[in-house]
Amino acid sequence: MFILLNEIDFSDRIRADYGTGQEWKQFLTSFTKMGQLQPIKVAPLDPPVAGKKYKLLMGDRRRRAIQELNDADVEIPFLDKGMIEASYRDEPSRRKQLLLEFAENNERKDFDFIEKAKFIRSVHEEMQSQYQEAWTQEATARLLNVSTASISHYLRVEEAVKTNESVAKASTLKAAVKRMKVDDQIKKRKSDAEKTDAGTLGLERAASLLHLGDARDWIAGISDSSVDFINFDPPWGDNASHKSAENHESFDDDTESADAFMQHMLPQLFRVLKDDRFCIFWYKAWASQDMARLAEGFGFNLQFTRTPCIWYKPDKTADQNRVPEKQLIEAYEMFYILRKGDPIFHERHANNVFAYERTPVAQLIHPTEKPLALCDALVKLCTVPGESIIDPTFGSGAMLDAAIRANRRARGCELSPNFHERVSVRLAEYLKNVSYS
Ligand SMILES: C[S@@+](CC[C@H](N)C(=O)[O-])C[C@H]1O[C@@H](n2cnc3c(N)ncnc32)[C@H](O)[C@@H]1O
Repeated sequence: MFILLNEIDFSDRIRADYGTGQEWKQFLTSFTKMGQLQPIKVAPLDPPVAGKKYKLLMGDRRRRAIQELNDADVEIPFLDKGMIEASYRDEPSRRKQLLLEFAENNERKDFDFIEKAKFIRSVHEEMQSQYQEAWTQEATARLLNVSTASISHYLRVEEAVKTNESVAKASTLKAAVKRMKVDDQIKKRKSDAEKTDAGTLGLERAASLLHLGDARDWIAGISDSSVDFINFDPPWGDNASHKSAENHESFDDDTESADAFMQHMLPQLFRVLKDDRFCIFWYKAWASQDMARLAEGFGFNLQFTRTPCIWYKPDKTADQNRVPEKQLIEAYEMFYILRKGDPIFHERHANNVFAYERTPVAQLIHPTEKPLALCDALVKLCTVPGESIIDPTFGSGAMLDAAIRANRRARGCELSPNFHERVSVRLAEYLKNVSYS
């Protein structure tokens, strides 16, 4: 039978968005070529509710496709505009309806894990309302043919996405679970820290040093010639790998944004730095000459440090190279020690190769984190106790941590709330025990 599209009630469907991807486009095309091959399933609503005479049981994707083609005035063979072919079916129980909808969507490639989590939650709760505590997660797992471990992950993720933006932005269940674990760790460390007065004090002290926001706004509030040392490690514009972004936090890392950011920041850094002081400038090795010229263009000089320094990672004996027969393991990063005026080092005979092992993975906060010992060496090379240090894109906060431990005055900025929060906890560990201004 043919029924009117606008007489169908589909309001209790869980799935709301079918996207605009390739799979969806192909699905639409199949309608324009062959018409509607399968009727949707509906149950009569007696009496009608708010003008709706049928309740949709199966085929929401088909309904949505036909509606979209109608709206775009695209003809569908053998189907009049505003109509859809449907067949009756007795209204199944809510449980059966959810299972039908789950099975229908589970076949789609673009059925994302958050939608799946919502389905699983609805089915689980529906069953629990019938069987009370006799119904377990294992039972839902068996019913939906999903592993018990992933049921528990789906249920936790479904809860977490409501309050945690970074979990909601994850693109896979695995990444979301990882983000939830990180979040739990932060919360635990924070609540442990808050259990003592000293802990709260540590967090308050840390908060006063760390700014959450765009470094371009933050730097504008810093006075001219007021800072003794800068660590500048901006986004490198090489699209931080998908894996890093998943495991940590993504930020705009395309070449254009990175260039614009540097063009804006370098003259500002020059402005806030006192005369005869250093600024460390990290950038990808293959672009280092361009970066040197750019920094010089804004007033920095490289009179005694034209050769870039190297952070050599002796522990890096493996890489994720896709073609290991053609690629070498990248075991170093480069940075410049830029000068404003004519500064002096506070340690003599320092070597321009800084060999320091990377922070162990289990302790990493940031994908491009510098080790604390390396930061300590740079702090001590370029400043004396009591001097002020800024890090406009502090990431893991390693440089700020090294600075406060070496009794320098540190301040920093970070765009990502995740790193900002984790660094607050990191610095609070130390600051709870020392008075710091
Ligand atoms: C290369 S990482 C810094 C790593 C850091 N030096 C460390 O050792 O962990 C660059 C950082 O800049 C942050 N960022 C990107 N754009 C920013 C902006 N406009 N303002 C402040 N921070 C920004 C990113 O979130 C990222 O954490």
